Amino acid sequence: MNKKIVLLFLLTLVFSCKKTNEGISIKKVTVNYFENPLGIDDPHPSISWFMVSNERNKKQSAYQIKVASSEKALEDDNNLLWDSGKLNSHQNSQIRYAGSKLNSRQHCYFKIKVWDENDVASEWSDTNFWTMGLLNQTDWKAKWIGFKTDDKNKKDTLHLPPAPYLRKSFSVNKTIQKATLYVTALGVFEIALNGEKIGQDLLTPGWTNYNKRIYYRTYDVSNTINQGENTLGAIIGDGWYAGYVGPKVLSKPRNRELYGSHPALLSQLEIQYEDGTKKIIVSDESWKAKEGPIVYADLLMGTGYNANLELPNWNTSNYDDQNWDNVYIHEGTKGVLQAYPGNSIQIYDEIKPIEITEPTKGTYVFNMGQNFAGHARLQVQGNKNDTIIMRFGERLYDDGKLMTENLRFARATDTYILKGEGVEIWEPKFTYHGFQYVEVTGLKNKPDHNTITGISFGSSIPMESSFTSSDTILNKMFENVIWTQRSNFMEVPTDSPQRDERLGWLGDVQIFSKSALYNANLGAFNKKWFADVRDAQYDFGPYSVFAPQPYPKLEWFSPGWMEAGVMVPYNTYKFYGDTKIVEDHYESMTRFMDYHIEKSKNDKFYPEDSWAEAKPKGGFGDWLSMTDKHLAHDIMASMYYQYALKIMAEMSAAIGNQEKADYYQSTYKTSVAAFIKHYLNENGKFQIDETIYGDGKGYFEGEKGFTGHTQSAYATAIYFDILPEALKIKAGEHLVNLLEENDNLPSSGILGIRQLLPALSKIGRSDLAYKILLKKEYPSWGFQIANGATTIWERWNSYTPEKGFNGEMNAKMNSFNHYAFGAFSQFLFSDMAGINTKDAGFNKIIIRPKLGDKSLTNVHGEYGSINGKIVSSWSINDNTFSLDVEIPVNTTAKVFVPAKKDYTIKESSTPITGKKLKILERDGIYQVLDIGSGSYSFKSEI
Ligand code: BGC
Repeated sequence: MNKKIVLLFLLTLVFSCKKTNEGISIKKVTVNYFENPLGIDDPHPSISWFMVSNERNKKQSAYQIKVASSEKALEDDNNLLWDSGKLNSHQNSQIRYAGSKLNSRQHCYFKIKVWDENDVASEWSDTNFWTMGLLNQTDWKAKWIGFKTDDKNKKDTLHLPPAPYLRKSFSVNKTIQKATLYVTALGVFEIALNGEKIGQDLLTPGWTNYNKRIYYRTYDVSNTINQGENTLGAIIGDGWYAGYVGPKVLSKPRNRELYGSHPALLSQLEIQYEDGTKKIIVSDESWKAKEGPIVYADLLMGTGYNANLELPNWNTSNYDDQNWDNVYIHEGTKGVLQAYPGNSIQIYDEIKPIEITEPTKGTYVFNMGQNFAGHARLQVQGNKNDTIIMRFGERLYDDGKLMTENLRFARATDTYILKGEGVEIWEPKFTYHGFQYVEVTGLKNKPDHNTITGISFGSSIPMESSFTSSDTILNKMFENVIWTQRSNFMEVPTDSPQRDERLGWLGDVQIFSKSALYNANLGAFNKKWFADVRDAQYDFGPYSVFAPQPYPKLEWFSPGWMEAGVMVPYNTYKFYGDTKIVEDHYESMTRFMDYHIEKSKNDKFYPEDSWAEAKPKGGFGDWLSMTDKHLAHDIMASMYYQYALKIMAEMSAAIGNQEKADYYQSTYKTSVAAFIKHYLNENGKFQIDETIYGDGKGYFEGEKGFTGHTQSAYATAIYFDILPEALKIKAGEHLVNLLEENDNLPSSGILGIRQLLPALSKIGRSDLAYKILLKKEYPSWGFQIANGATTIWERWNSYTPEKGFNGEMNAKMNSFNHYAFGAFSQFLFSDMAGINTKDAGFNKIIIRPKLGDKSLTNVHGEYGSINGKIVSSWSINDNTFSLDVEIPVNTTAKVFVPAKKDYTIKESSTPITGKKLKILERDGIYQVLDIGSGSYSFKSEI
């Protein structure tokens, strides 16, 4: 009897243990892509989570979400804002809040429970939260305030006014329950409460078309407020609003004050007392202002600081502001105030110099070992009024001097004037540079490795993926892509971080978009930029060539650039299954497509010279290609348009608009048929009537003439899957022949480069793709590495040992930190590691590694998906092939394991016989099987 009880007890124990083990638990919860975000203004925020388990084949069969306005209410299950109830659903991301209406300032605490495939419930997740921001314009009581300052250095040809310092004291004498700061600027700001900087963000509130929208930030400052006297202190800079922005050539005579002449602050501090009363401190005429030590601060030109003008304790209550001036009420903006939806700019690394040289006496050059965007921290000791000048550049001349001519009109110079009191440490505000080298003059003592520290910053996009392989050059190429992405994802996806440009060029973004999405979680960052793209859409339909578009009179649009307005939202939707992104952008996209459809007339494609009215004429085409004649712009224009039609059909269906989906699909068919008839001969060769372009005048490099027969043309037709099978095979042959004629080196420009490697892979020539990717000769990515690249270059020939920095072009357009040609990196994930999604959102994963010419012995790809980590890691040892795979809970994968024909693949050393795992079919060199979540270790012979 006793024994029986013990047995029963043990059994129950085992059973109950098993139960929890087998269950799933919630790992990470986000709201609109953020963990516990403050101050959002989306009335139906999207909730996502991913889960973990020790077991395989785990699925979610149901979920429940409970939301309450306090932690206590959530705990007591009382007065809930939303109880979804137990919903039978596999969905674990993008679940829109569907509870009672949310109000300004509302706190929303929530928890989630999930049930697995056996209906075993998880524990409730930890409590997470979000808070609502100020939802109505009338919630804002603050006024826009500013303080006009004028140039300190009258001799300077640039207009570089000092950054105003603003302050306001107030008292608090009751117990605080909560204090929230809502704050923004026209320009950029830093705000401190009682001397403590609020938040980690730099260059806030970032860049938008301020005439249409301006974002505010929300900070919880409950713990920074004192009983008694308190002081808010803000510094405002010109930023994108009033400072120098973009290329000088685009806005002569001066490329500044594109939105307004002086920066302004809008600040509203709301204090909720425990007794239920409330106090708000707003920016208004009662604030005081003064010039301080920041004698100038400009994004492109740099920052100047005179430490002798410091105002010790100015942003604390221990300060007398009697001799400060009054602020003025600034005209503000008509743009609507909205909660910031993106990833604010933050510091992500500190970099120590690897070498210090002295090319001329007293001029020191610090090599940071890495090209990046950010600024330098200076540490010096010297005499009062010693002036240290720091200039920034990406490369050196052979004589070791700093090369700055590729910065064009960006002066990129920071100046620090010492107060002469011991060790002085300084970091500039409101500027950034793209650099690997810092040239320092004015030092009285020999510098050391602490004199300069690189501070790298960019938008705080979560970078959750990784890629390594047995080829160290390839690994370096990938690292360079990551640094290039970090340097250029600066509030908007920019082309370059160093010269007077730094614009959100649409062409570059669409080419790099999938690579970028593999590298980082861009749900929030892209969403923010899509609003910029909408704001930059011309009334007659096309998207501008860059977004934001700060030049009111500029009407530039270009095929291949404007389709980014459809392609990047599509890619983002595909990666996150986020149909809200599609819905929010849909009206704008259909307006854009209407424009295309009307312009492409009856045949719905673009014959030669269809874009003469575009600015620049014909558009930019396959910009920076290395072909003798340029690929006819109209061929690319047609194919980008066709691709846009196809993905618009898919997105329309995804949001339930089947009628539009059919319409785009049938327009696509008409277009493709007419395009093929016009441009392709029976041998699948692209042909054009060159005479139609005349002498090519007015086109970018049009004098070289046009052709249809280039790598980019075939790669694009194959990658966009435009051609019927028979023609695709022929196009593939042309592509391979063109490559052979070119020693297997790429000649594509920025509109074609992304397509090249995956297109080869698609026609079964991943061997050739590997060969091209791993080339070291000019022009190739390996060539860049061999010539000192630490980020991706703008041009194949940005630097060659023979011609140096490409002569005259260097001063016109030659960035060493440009991601467009980094678009090869999607291939590392999509083909080499072989991680793809069948549906939208990586629920139905495909793992299909392409082994290429088998020149690599191992590849390890890890992608941080919305459902959690996906791993595909393979190695080849003689004939043995090993593939380790990790698939997140609630997803499945189709795995393609390369194996000899009749070889029985092993999983965790056990032959796959069909009991737990089953081979479904043979597909080419692969054995195919379906797997559920979990970790797997396959082995085969190849
Ligand atoms: C930018 C590019 C952009 C191009 C248009 C350049 O100045 O840096 O990346 O796409 O202009 O041709």
